[in-house]
Amino acid sequence: MLLQKQDFKKRIGCIGAGYVGGPTMAVIAAQCPDYSVTVVDINEKRIAAWNTDNLPIYEPGLLDVVKKARGRNLFFSTDVNAAIRESDVLFVSVNTPTKTFGEGAGKAADLQYWEETARNIIKASNSDKIIVEKSTLPVRTADAMDRILNANDKGIHFEVLSNPEFLAEGTAIEDLLHPERVLVGSRETETGLKARREIVDIYTNWVDRSKIITSNVWSAELSKLVANAFLAQRISSINSISALCEKTEADVGEVSYAIGTDKRIGSKFLNPSVGFGGSCFKKDILNLVYICEHYGLHEVASYWESVVRMNDYQIRRFVLTMVQSMFSTVSRKRIVLLGFAFKADTGDTRESPAIYVAKKLMDEQARLVISDPQALDNARHDLREHAAKIEFEKDPYKASRGAHALAVMTEWKEYKDLDFEKIFAAMEKPAFVFDGRNILDHRRLFEIGFNVYPIGKPPMSHF
Ligand code: NAD
Ligand code: UGA
Repeated sequence: MLLQKQDFKKRIGCIGAGYVGGPTMAVIAAQCPDYSVTVVDINEKRIAAWNTDNLPIYEPGLLDVVKKARGRNLFFSTDVNAAIRESDVLFVSVNTPTKTFGEGAGKAADLQYWEETARNIIKASNSDKIIVEKSTLPVRTADAMDRILNANDKGIHFEVLSNPEFLAEGTAIEDLLHPERVLVGSRETETGLKARREIVDIYTNWVDRSKIITSNVWSAELSKLVANAFLAQRISSINSISALCEKTEADVGEVSYAIGTDKRIGSKFLNPSVGFGGSCFKKDILNLVYICEHYGLHEVASYWESVVRMNDYQIRRFVLTMVQSMFSTVSRKRIVLLGFAFKADTGDTRESPAIYVAKKLMDEQARLVISDPQALDNARHDLREHAAKIEFEKDPYKASRGAHALAVMTEWKEYKDLDFEKIFAAMEKPAFVFDGRNILDHRRLFEIGFNVYPIGKPPMSHF
C-alpha cells in the first residue's frame, strides 16, 4: 500500500530540481524511507524528465538512486505552492548566478531567484517551517531571508538554516552517500538549535555523527564560499607554475607530485589544466571578492580575485600556444576539441574552458569540430551563434578525419585509450596534439609522429 504524505515522519520539500536539488533529494529519500521528499521546479521540462528514466542531468549512479525512491517517498512536481504548504522542512537549491546588471554586476550573487522563492514561501505557507539554504549564498543572506520571511502577517515562524552542499559533479552520488562532512549552521537560539537538531537527524540516517559539523549560520554560509575559493586557488597555483615550467624545462607533473607528497600540502587538486570551469568556482570567488570589497577589505578582495585572473590567463595562454605553434595561423584548419564538458563524467558545460577556446578559434577562422560523449547538446547551445559553422561529432575517429590538430579539453577516460595510430593516419600532416589535461601518453604520441604540446612540460616537436 502506498503511504499518504501525512503518514511520513517528516515532509521535506525542495525548491529547485537542478544539479544539486535533484541528486541531494534523491539520496535523502533513498536513505530516509520514513521521510517524504518532494522536489519542485518552475521548469516543466526538467520536472517531466525527472519523472522518466531519461533524467535531465547526467550523473553516474543517479538513476539507480532515483529509481529506489521515486514514487515511494520521492516525488517530482511543478506544484511549488503545494510542496511549500505541505512541507515541514524546505530546502532551497535555486540557482544563484553572478549578477549581470546593476550594482555589483559581474561579481555579486544574483539573489532574485532566492528572493522570489522567499516570497512564494510566505504566500503559500500556513504553518511554521524550517527553511534550509542549500544554494551557495553570500554570507549573511540568512539574515535578509529571516527578515523577509518573518515579516509575514500570518504569525508563522520560519527558522532559516544554512546547509551548504559540497558535492562535485561526476561524483555527486558518491559524495552524497559518503560525505567527508555535512555542515549545518543555525542561529544559536532555542528555535535555531531545535531546527539544527532536526536537520542533523535527517543526515544521521546514513552519515556518521562525527562527520556532521554544526556551526553558527554565518560560518556555514562563509565556509562554502571559502571551500570553493581554496580548491580553485590550488588549481590556479599549479597552473601558474605550469607557465614557469614551460620556460624552464621543469615538468609540472613532477613538480606537482613532489610537492603533493608533503602531507601538509596534499596531492589532490594539483592537476594542471587548461583552466578550471564549472558553474561555481568563478562565481563563488567573485562573490567572495564582492563581499570583501563591500566591507572595505580591498587587499583581501584582490588576493582572491587573482585566482580568477590566473585562470583566465591559463585559458588564454592555451589558445595562444595552439595558434603560435601551428605557424601562427589556424585559418581554415580543421581542429577537433576532444571534450566540451567542464570536467569528465558530466554533460555540464557551464563555464567550461572549451567555450572560450572554441570561440577564440572561431575568431581565428578555424574549422571546428566538437566531440564529447555527453555534452554535445549543451555545446550546441553554448555555441549557438556559430553552430552552423561548427561540426558536432560524438565519435572521435570520425571527428579527427582530415584534422590538422586535436585539443583535449576534458579528461574523459576513453580519450586515453584511443587508437592514436589510426587517428594519426587519417589526419593532415603535420599533425598536432594539444593536451589541455595532460592525460595522454605524450612520448608515444610523439613517436607516432604527432607534434605534442602538453601543459607545463616541454613540447615535443618534429621541427
Ligand atoms: P541549476 O540551475 O541546475 O538548478 C536550479 C533550479 O532552480 C533550476 O532548475 C531552476 O528552474 C530552479 N528555480 C529557479 N527559481 C525557481 C523558483 N522560484 N521556483 C522553483 N524553482 C526555481 O543550479 P545548481 O547547479 O543545482 O545550483 C543550485 C545552487 O547550488 C547554486 O547556488 C550553486 O552555487 C549551488 N551548488 C551547486 C553545485 C553543483 O555542482 N552544481 C554544488 C554545490 C552547490
Ligand atoms: C566543485 C567543488 O569540488 C565542490 O566541492 C563544490 O560543491 C562545487 O564545486 C560547487 O560548489 O559547485 P565541481 O565544480 O563540480 O565541484 O567539480 P571539481 O571537481 O571541483 O572541478 C572543477 C574544475 O576544476 C573542473 O573544470 C576541473 O577539471 C578542474 N580541476 C580540478 C583542475 O583543473 N585540476 C584539478 O586538480 C582539479
